[in-house]
Amino acid sequence: MTLSAQTKQDTLLGQVIINQGLATKEEVEDCVAMQSELAKEQNQRSLADLLVENGYITRSQVERIRPRVEEEGGLQQIPGYQILSKLGAGAMAAVFKARQISLDRIVAIKVLPKRMSENKEFVDRFYKEGKAAAKLNHPNIVGAVDVGEANGFHYFVMEYVEGQTVFDRLDKGQRYSEKEALNIVMQVCRALAHAHKAGFIHRDVKPKNIMITPDGVAKLADMGLARETSDVEAAQAEAGKAYGTPYYISPEQIRGELDVDQRADIYSLGATFYHMVTGQVPFDAPTPSAVMHKHLKEDLVPPDHLNPSLSAGVGEIIEVAMKKKRRQRYQTAEEILTDLERVAAGEPPLMARQHYDLTSLAEIEEGGVPSASHFQTKRNAIPVSAQETMDVDARSFRDRMLDPIVMLLAGALALAFIIIIFLILSHSGR
Ligand SMILES: Nc1ncnc2c1ncn2[C@@H]1O[C@H](COP(=O)(O)OP(=O)(O)OP(=O)(O)O)[C@@H](O)[C@H]1O
Ligand SMILES: [Mg+2]
Repeated sequence: MTLSAQTKQDTLLGQVIINQGLATKEEVEDCVAMQSELAKEQNQRSLADLLVENGYITRSQVERIRPRVEEEGGLQQIPGYQILSKLGAGAMAAVFKARQISLDRIVAIKVLPKRMSENKEFVDRFYKEGKAAAKLNHPNIVGAVDVGEANGFHYFVMEYVEGQTVFDRLDKGQRYSEKEALNIVMQVCRALAHAHKAGFIHRDVKPKNIMITPDGVAKLADMGLARETSDVEAAQAEAGKAYGTPYYISPEQIRGELDVDQRADIYSLGATFYHMVTGQVPFDAPTPSAVMHKHLKEDLVPPDHLNPSLSAGVGEIIEVAMKKKRRQRYQTAEEILTDLERVAAGEPPLMARQHYDLTSLAEIEEGGVPSASHFQTKRNAIPVSAQETMDVDARSFRDRMLDPIVMLLAGALALAFIIIIFLILSHSGR
């Protein structure tokens, strides 16, 4: 490292140490003065060493803040952007408010930590997906602007959104009214329908990734931001934070399936919707792996058990969106959007009912019985259409046909019929 780079690094280190209250301004200045005295004697010492030797901070404290110092160092040198303030931090990276100098506009920049920059496969994907996402243009998607690298740090530039995330309100213990939640979820659904058509799967739909502008426009954030190779690893990394992601992750992502598709986003949207209207995450447990286990195995507590004022339609939509088997879920964002729009207009959901029937049929065919949550869905059901009634009747007729007693009686009847014919024929032959 050159002398000026070393000085810069030390200045940043000093700032971070003071900001975090690890040592006082006087203690840091004391060591800086010591450092320049020693430099005159051709003895180059780092500020960190001097702070440790003088007992102001410990070696482990230095190691803990070093990534932060590197991050700040990397940031100050993103060409074309002037960093203004820090907006927040997720599990993966920190997000900063910045001015894009060429266009004189405010943007948000997500800077990836160094450890990710060392994974070539990840970096390649980060650029590919980021560049492709910059072509998406939708009012409910936080626009991607640019991806780049400066000083060894990779960054993702996006549209700056003024406002709060859905998580911010849930975090205060406030849930959303059905009407508010429907409005937001429908907007996110339109964003997903647009992105899915363009070949993007978000893979991390959650309250922290939905921003609400002061005008009430919902914007889905982090679209096109590549995730780490394994969803489980990423989820576990995030679970270390107070706001772990596994609350919204789909079963197939937990299983590490390679062909994760748009239905994973539908599950996560359903889980987000659940949290918004009940004030509780769908599955909770003390550890991330226990939460993930519940996504795989445990029946969902129907949302109207937690919030009895919910309409039956919303409960049904959430339950179908969160089916553990993806072929039993809404298959596309358009499908769920159809039902959301119907329920918002005071009509019963249409697609949820069709999925319910298909699911029950599949379970009967597999030799099982419909799960408790299906009965729940049925219990809430508003009168079904004539077509659906016929479907149910046709199914119960087929089931009755398969009943062994019915089969036996039918066999006996057929035998009696044959004997009568035989008797008639032999009688007439005489
Ligand atoms: N485009 C944006 N405009 C304004 N603020 C943003 C923007 N993107 C993110 N933020 C803010 O930065 C915070 C951190 O975002 P970040 O995406 O790093 O975290 P996250 O969504 O919790 O986790 P993850 O790393 O899984 O996406 C958000 O909670 C939000 O407040
Ligand atoms: Mg985010």
